[in-house]
Formats: sequence, C-alpha cells, structure tokens
Amino acid sequence: MHTILITGGAGFIGSHLARLFVIKYPEYKIVNLDKLTYAGNLENLKDIETASNYSFVKGDITDLALLKELFATHQFTAVLHCAAESHVDRSITDPLAFVTTNVLGTGALLVAAKESWGNDLAGKVFYHISTDEVYGSLGAEGFFTESTAYDPRSPYSASKASSDHLVRAFYHTYHLPVKISNCSNNYGPFHFPEKLIPLCIHNIINNKPLPIYGKGENVRDWLYVEDHVRAIDTIFHNGKVGETYNIGGHNEWTNLNLVKELCRQMDEKLGREKGSSEKLITYVTDRAGHDLRYAIDASKLKNELGWLPSLQFEEGISKTIDWYLNNKEWLDDVTSGGYQLYYDTMYRKV
Ligand code: NAD
Ligand code: DAU
Repeated sequence: MHTILITGGAGFIGSHLARLFVIKYPEYKIVNLDKLTYAGNLENLKDIETASNYSFVKGDITDLALLKELFATHQFTAVLHCAAESHVDRSITDPLAFVTTNVLGTGALLVAAKESWGNDLAGKVFYHISTDEVYGSLGAEGFFTESTAYDPRSPYSASKASSDHLVRAFYHTYHLPVKISNCSNNYGPFHFPEKLIPLCIHNIINNKPLPIYGKGENVRDWLYVEDHVRAIDTIFHNGKVGETYNIGGHNEWTNLNLVKELCRQMDEKLGREKGSSEKLITYVTDRAGHDLRYAIDASKLKNELGWLPSLQFEEGISKTIDWYLNNKEWLDDVTSGGYQLYYDTMYRKV
C-alpha cells in the first residue's frame, strides 16, 4: 500500500506516470500536486480525474508550508517528483525560473519528506525523476553510464544536476530513502509543442517552417514516454534505495534525419505529395551552448531489473503522429493564447 505524492502530474511525463499508477494500482492513493504553469494541463488527465484513488491539488513545490500541510493530511509514503521547468530554450532566456523550481522546489520537497518521515523510513521512497542532460555532451563515440561525471552545460541541466546532488545529499546525510533515474529524450502524446517533435508535427499540419538549429547534426536518443513511465514503475518497486538508474532508448537520431522521418510519415498520413513537408525545413540560428550528442547506456536497468523499451521508433512516432492528428482540439487549445507570443519571440528569426 502506498499513498503517493506525484509532483508535476499535469505535465507531459507526469500525466503518463499518474495514469499508469492510478490504473495499475487501484489500492494506492495518488495525490497530484501541480502549479499548472504553461506546461501543466488538466486536459492531460481527463480519463482519470474522477478515479476514486486520485486527487489533484493546485500548488507550488517551492511552498514549504503547503508541502508540510499535504504531508500531514495525507501521510504520504512515497514521492514521485516530476515537477520541473523542463525546456532548455526557456532556461536560456529565464534561468532563475529554473533555479527556483528545480533547485529550491526539490529542496523544499526533500525537507518536507524528511520532516514528515522522521526516523520512520521503512517502506518510504523519494523518487527523483531526472535527465541525461546532467552528464553534459558526448562526441561521436561513447555512452552516458551511471558513473559518468556530471558536466551540465545549460541553465536547465545545471538546475537538474543541482537537484540530483541535493537528493543524493539527503540520502547520505539523513538516510532519506531516495531513488533517481536519468532518462533520455521522451516523445509521445501530450508533449507540449515547444519541444522538437510536437513542434514539427504542429507545423507540418499547418504548413509552417520546421526550424532546425544549426545544421541539424545534433543527436538525441529518443524513448516513447510510456516506456519511460514503465521504467519508473519498475525502479520505484524493485530498484535499490540510494541508487541511480539510466533510462534510454538505444535509439539515436540526428535532428535532421528525425525531422525528415516525421515529414515522410506525415506526407503519407495526410495524403500529401511525397517530399512536400521536407520543403518546410528551415535552418535557423543554433541554440546557445547546444549539446552535440546524448546517448544512454541503460544496461544496469536491463541487467538488474529486466527493463527494455517495448516500441521501435518508427512505430512510436507513427502512434504519436496519429495521436496529434486525432487530438487537434488539444493541440489548438495549447497553441492558442500565450503560445503564440512564445513562438513569435523564440522563432523571430525563421
Ligand atoms: P513538463 O514541462 O511537460 O511538465 C512539468 C510539469 O511541472 C507541469 O505540469 C508544470 O505545471 C509543473 N510545474 C512546473 N513548475 C512547478 C512548480 N513550481 N510547482 C509545481 N508544479 C510545477 O515536463 P516533462 O517533460 O513532463 O518533464 C517531467 C520531468 O522529467 C522533469 O523533471 C524533467 O526534467 C524530466 N525529464 C524530461 C524528459 C523529456 O524528454 N521531456 C527526459 C528526461 C527527464
Ligand atoms: O535529454 C532529455 C531532455 O530532452 C529533457 O531533460 C528535457 O526536459 C527535454 O526538453 C529534452 O531536451 P532537448 O533540448 O534535447 O529537447 P528539444 O525537443 O528542445 O530539442 C531536441 C533537439 O532538437 C535539440 O538538439 C535541439 C533541437 N531543436 C529543438 C527545437 C525546439 C531544433 O533543432 N529546433 C527546435 O525548434
């Protein structure tokens, strides 16, 4: 039995995680705490919002008084910490927002858990969801392992690295039962269209330019979001306390090849002439400090806990495009209002 505080459960990964736990573990109670920033959307949770083991609280993880009140009321036995500012480009224009939520917010959650749990730590889990970006940037060869030295290079990855260090410090100093996972790039339904894949899907639908930073040679290792939350479920239940697990797709694509694959599949699905979407590709000024390559070695997770990705990329991308084509209302809703201002400011150069 668990009563779990999920933070950031109205976001992309958090909503898939909340859905998995609410449906798979009807005996658990799930409380979703989310500030509902531009990235948080309760529409992502429509199918579980009335489940008897689920409830939502609108609030900020930096609000320690609120966290203490929630721990006192619900007596959480576990935390699944997803809430974060997550977009690298936004961290370049507004780094302090990332320090505030990702560092101070994680610190506040750790303090609330430590104070609430005291010495009664049996069966408790503080699970911190983190990113492969903390390891920095790879050259053409090699993979990130759990022992790769941290070398974050953007305000986003530096704030996530800080939060990972804080979580480990609470394990070593106070024996707080923590688990950490560092995952590669996710894709799938409910992904906010500021990130490369949903942004390009949205722009292809609307015949708008597809902005490729630099030469499009940067490499990312893509994983279907449902495979990520399955890995979190496995680590949460079977991973060792105090340990870190890397999660990845063994699925590297240059940005240019990835966008071309999106164009190919979407031309077919939209009944457009072959090659027509590729004409939308537009090279724009590179991201400042753009990390060249991320690639995860997930063999620890495979060997110790038996997790493997379930979907081939072409199949995952096909499912993802279908979801966006079938959920145009969701896409229209999140791209109305403030999104237009964000897009016009970020992509002035296109
Ligand atoms: P997201 O931006 O889609 O969602 C973040 C959620 O956190 C939103 O619902 C937002 O409202 C909420 N939030 C933000 N600030 C908050 C605050 N101060 N208090 C409470 N809630 C707040 O992010 P995502 O892509 O789903 O990422 C979730 C987590 O997974 C993050 O910690 C991120 O670093 C990590 N991660 C993401 C990826 C990826 O490819 N998206 C890969 C690896 C790790
Ligand atoms: O690796 C995990 C990380 O993946 C997560 O921790 C982050 O939260 C998540 O946002 C993601 O970061 P990236 O910066 O890799 O993802 P993004 O979709 O923003 O960009 C993917 C690649 O595409 C990257 O090399 C930059 C490039 N890009 C991105 C955008 C938005 C473009 O070429 N054009 C664009 O318009």
